[in-house]
Amino acid sequence: GKSGYDHFMLKEIHEQPRALRQCLRGRVGELTGEVDLGDLGDLTPRAVQFVACGTSYHAALYATQLFQQAGIPAQAFLASEYTTSTPPIGDALVVGVTQSGETADTLSALREARRRGARTLAVTNTVGSTAARECDHALYIRAGPEIGVAATKTFASQLAALNLLTLGITSVDDDREVISGLRDLPSAVQEILDDSVAREVAETYRDAESYFFIGRGLNYPVALEGALKMKEITYKHAEGFAAGELKHGPLALVTENTPVFATVTGDDEMARKTIGNVKEVEARDAPVVAVTDGESDVERYADHVLEVPDTHPRVAAVVANVQLQLVAYHTANMLGRSIDKPRNLAKSVTVE
Ligand code: F6R
Repeated sequence: GKSGYDHFMLKEIHEQPRALRQCLRGRVGELTGEVDLGDLGDLTPRAVQFVACGTSYHAALYATQLFQQAGIPAQAFLASEYTTSTPPIGDALVVGVTQSGETADTLSALREARRRGARTLAVTNTVGSTAARECDHALYIRAGPEIGVAATKTFASQLAALNLLTLGITSVDDDREVISGLRDLPSAVQEILDDSVAREVAETYRDAESYFFIGRGLNYPVALEGALKMKEITYKHAEGFAAGELKHGPLALVTENTPVFATVTGDDEMARKTIGNVKEVEARDAPVVAVTDGESDVERYADHVLEVPDTHPRVAAVVANVQLQLVAYHTANMLGRSIDKPRNLAKSVTVE
């Protein structure tokens, strides 16, 4: 059942701390701080290719950055485009990111990868799924069953599992900081779950026609995912952009009627550049909602602030996404949408 929540989606948003704990349990040594993924630790790919659809593709985009930071070339492909392109395989590991393990586009990309001689790994929530059975390896995200059509806790768990995967098969200097950030992840999510600002933001902008989401680096997939969730369950136009792309076209759409959600964490060069983009939209009178850990001065340019605890950037991205899930949920709820079963959508897409 829904355990007292109005919708499965809200229940599943609130289950994220527990889902994340399950994902991490037994995989990060209590004393050593080493990541142990069993046999997967023996993989030594020279390159990694991800194939995935929808929300899982956003998780894949995030993961490419983790591998790149560890010095391993990585690319993410929309699964439905993988079969029509001829990407170089070499000694690549091809990773299918698929919550259900049954998405037809992803399964066929993985089959194509195997035909090309690649080793394959399924990152999935579903033991015994087709992806888990057909791939050489499987990494389970252990999020527990997800009933709402919109993926929420499985996305957070995918991001955690993909961090573990990177840590398990690569080694870089700031691993310890990442591991300690990951250990804090469940409580960092817990901290913002009962934040009332997401609901206030939803109330303020429920009648907007269009919503924009921007971010850079790890916060770029967060922007894409924020927009996807918004459009799926509110049926309103929403678009996510790499913050730097705004002035290459989308800025023409920005008016006082288009709230812009800007995720800015840390206070580095990337944060400063995104703040530059925030000033551009503010100058066009667009309402600005900053999703931020308060490290930079982005709040000065924002009409609302959705808080993220001060933590590792990889972890901050996960928490920022939870804030955006809450905004999408409350907006859809205020509009009376069919949140758990949005029109035209299915939980598992088994046709190409
Ligand atoms: C969005 C959503 C879809 C799925 C996509 C892939 O909320 O749920 O975009 O992420 O259909 O599904 P899986 O991960 O099962 O392959």
